[in-house]
Amino acid sequence: MSYLKHLLIISAAISLAALFLFPTTANSIPFVVFHGISDSCRNRGVTHFITVLSNWSGSEGYCIEIGNGVWDSWTMPFMQQTAIACEKVKQMSELSDGYNIIGLSQGNLVGRGVVELCDGGPPVRNLISLAGPHAGIAAVPLCGSGLVCILVDFLIELAIYGNYVQEHLAPASYIKIPTDLDQYKKGCKFLPKINNEIHKNSTYKKRFSSLDNLVLIMFENDVILVPKETSWFGYFPDGSWETILPANETTLYTEDWIGLKALDEAGKVKYVNVSGGHLDISYDEMEKYVLPYLVENTTALRLSDFEHEGKTLIKLYDSH
Ligand SMILES: *[C@@H]1O[C@H](CO)[C@@H](O)[C@H](O)[C@H]1NC(C)=O
Ligand SMILES: *[C@@H]1O[C@H](CO)[C@@H](O)[C@H](O)[C@H]1NC(C)=O
Ligand SMILES: *[C@@H]1O[C@H](CO)[C@@H](O)[C@H](O)[C@H]1NC(C)=O
Ligand SMILES: *[C@@H]1O[C@H](CO)[C@@H](O)[C@H](O)[C@H]1NC(C)=O
Ligand SMILES: *[C@@H]1O[C@H](CO)[C@@H](O)[C@H](O)[C@H]1NC(C)=O
Repeated sequence: MSYLKHLLIISAAISLAALFLFPTTANSIPFVVFHGISDSCRNRGVTHFITVLSNWSGSEGYCIEIGNGVWDSWTMPFMQQTAIACEKVKQMSELSDGYNIIGLSQGNLVGRGVVELCDGGPPVRNLISLAGPHAGIAAVPLCGSGLVCILVDFLIELAIYGNYVQEHLAPASYIKIPTDLDQYKKGCKFLPKINNEIHKNSTYKKRFSSLDNLVLIMFENDVILVPKETSWFGYFPDGSWETILPANETTLYTEDWIGLKALDEAGKVKYVNVSGGHLDISYDEMEKYVLPYLVENTTALRLSDFEHEGKTLIKLYDSH
């Protein structure tokens, strides 16, 4: 073979490689984002987050809205939010070969509801959780002044586990007061269900344990989630406000109610700790902890290809 022919073959090979290996990620499965409380799919924070991750991963990203966004995120009970999300993912043919879910704060419970409760839904591969209140929270998030909060305080005083609050205040679906567990178990309509705390539904466990990866990102300076360790499934011990139990010392884990232990023992749970406040994730951290789970072939991922703003925080929440 002549030198020139060789050169031609090599350069053809290189350009083919560039064509197929570079945007290697083009065949990656899509991802879906469920936003947090008081947020909306129309907000710039969420759309920018999705644009960046789509751009980096070469996969399609979608924000799935539940009801009208901001108001319904505060007021719609979680069984209903989950049912709406389930219907929407079933109707998206793009997801039928499998997809990843990224949950932002409260949106993680919608995500987990879809994983566990959605009969006939498309398969979820990775669940990437940013500040998810998985084990519950012991205080109402984000409350300051303003109409919503006046309503919230009023409702809380009416009794968090009563039917009225359960049906009109979304966070009541996952508020778990450690010293009021009897009422919680009787009245709380959502978290005890998806955590298999009372009735143990083996289908929920089977579906949750079939995730490829569960990425749990905790924000070290999170003051919205009380306690922040809930992002890792850690929580207050039953009946006490004292030391917080790490995930693997909770009964949910030791008795493996939902398959968290099984996933962990299979090396599929990634406990990630970042330094920011609630949802304050930087571009670097997104690249390191979120992106790898959105692409099929991480070997082909050349991180140095992405130009971005490094340690700058992505502004996820613009309503606050
Ligand atoms: C998308 O990626 C390209 C190439 O890395 C970059 O130039 C562009 O700014 C990115 N766009 C966004 C919105 O991140
Ligand atoms: C468990 O959940 C599945 C799926 O939603 C449902 O079909 C089944 O009836 C539930 N089993 C029990 C015992 O509640
Ligand atoms: C829980 O996990 C931590 C950190 O991985 C480990 O050091 C500890 O031994 C575990 N505890 C139990 C009870 O398994
Ligand atoms: C998280 O990381 C910080 C340092 O970045 C460290 O001080 C802290 O102990 C870590 N927390 C856990 C629970 O590992
Ligand atoms: C993943 O990418 C690497 C590097 O580009 C390549 O060598 C390998 O064959 C790819 N693996 C698969 C399963 O596509």
